[in-house]
Amino acid sequence: MKNKTDKAEEQKTREPTVENIRDLILDAKKKAYAETDSEPEPELTSTVEWPVTCTVGPGLEGAIACESKIGYVNGSKGWLIYRGYDIFDLCAYSTFEETSYLLLHGRLPSQSELTEFTTSLRERMFIPQTQRLMLSFPIETMNPMSALRLGTNLMRQKQTYRDRDSDTEVGEILATDDDTIPMETRPAGKKNPVFEFLTGLFKRVHPASADALVGSDEIESCYNLIAGVASVAATIGRTRAGRIPLEPLPECGFAGNYLYMVTGKRPTALEERIMDISLILHADHGMNASTFASMVVASTLSDIYLAIGAGISALSGPLHGGANVEVVKMLAEIGDPSNAGNWFRDTTAAKKKIMGFGHRVYKAYDPRARILGPISALLTENDATLKKTYATAVALEAEVVSELGATKKIFPNVDFYSGIVYSAMGIPRELYTTVFAVSRVAGWCARVVEYLENNRIFRPRALYTGTFDEKYIPPNER
Ligand code: CMC
Repeated sequence: MKNKTDKAEEQKTREPTVENIRDLILDAKKKAYAETDSEPEPELTSTVEWPVTCTVGPGLEGAIACESKIGYVNGSKGWLIYRGYDIFDLCAYSTFEETSYLLLHGRLPSQSELTEFTTSLRERMFIPQTQRLMLSFPIETMNPMSALRLGTNLMRQKQTYRDRDSDTEVGEILATDDDTIPMETRPAGKKNPVFEFLTGLFKRVHPASADALVGSDEIESCYNLIAGVASVAATIGRTRAGRIPLEPLPECGFAGNYLYMVTGKRPTALEERIMDISLILHADHGMNASTFASMVVASTLSDIYLAIGAGISALSGPLHGGANVEVVKMLAEIGDPSNAGNWFRDTTAAKKKIMGFGHRVYKAYDPRARILGPISALLTENDATLKKTYATAVALEAEVVSELGATKKIFPNVDFYSGIVYSAMGIPRELYTTVFAVSRVAGWCARVVEYLENNRIFRPRALYTGTFDEKYIPPNER
């Protein structure tokens, strides 16, 4: 039996305070490490000689597209690491500004660099010209992610390297679209075929370095994008609510300003901290679809604003960032924790996917869900409606994990609890995926800049399974 003091202590740790949130993250870290202790440690962290051999599945599963020092996801240990720093530690101690600096520059900033970067982002959140342009479109009725892509592309008002006539020799770089795997490549058998570079044919015909393009201009564009996408997202939220866009407040950090510019309310220290954590934990995640989309566009030496626009487009789908909106719709449909079991059985019998579960890489519990789950528990404690939504989520998680966790290693992913957290902070449901984008833009920028340092246009191949020798018959004779 718990005595009165224990109960009071327990009650105190359940109060949503900045300190309790930090403890909760550090507890989640301990639990995560204990649960995956028996999984093998990763071995390879050095560079390799190319070409590399990997087993590729549909959807490029298993394909290695490049080397990177930015971030690391270990699916069996449930690790997420940015530039060597564990996601749990960054969420416990860092801010979004500091984490963005880390991703972009490869190291934590000094105090003065951090102050300068924070100020610079705040100044760049002021985008009246882009807002004016945005308001000439019907953004209040557009899908918020389409509006975000539009607004992001509208931010590109200043010259970027693509607008310059001189000092950029793109001719040789653009010529890298050569096929280095000849069509005659022979698969050795139909089942698990092996496609190899024919001996001696793999070579870097063109070095394709974009060094000349990766200078201060690119970094300036990244700063503009990280700050500006948040303001564009907030502008969309305000416009949808029939209100005028707001300017950033001088006393708030990035997360606080973003929240303020979306909701119109000055956030509490706790709300600012939770938004910071949400932004930190969504900032980068390996070669996910939207990051890859940004990198593919950038690899053509297109333009970083267009590359980030591509990332936003890819993120919007329900299999990717769009899942956070679908999760909350799904929880509303289930309605009550007592319905979770039947709903789960009906859904799996109909062979439908359950939103917010499963991951291409994680075969252990997603560390981001380990953080957002307990935070949503804390935030929903005093709101009857949200408390029920959270309880429904917990009931569904128990059903899914007990059945699919064991057989298919399916656990909640980052999108399962994030919507509940955003909802508790007054962010409307239709904007959830834009919050994801506001954060991920830091990872997209970092990876694009890193890739451009040793750029080669992305150009995979498709296995042609069509016919040959078809005879053309004019339309009127078909
Ligand atoms: N519910 C039920 N079964 C699932 C789920 C799910 N959410 N996810 C995967 N499976 C099953 C799937 O049916 C398949 O079973 P089987 O081997 O019997 O055919 C097996 O697990 C492997 O699934 P997959 O579809 O081949 O996995 P994938 O790597 O192609 O897809 C995914 C990954 C995230 C798209 C998928 O798990 C999914 O659709 N999840 C729901 C949408 C979602 O929550 N997306 C957010 C992803 S995390 C945040 C982000 O990066 O965007």
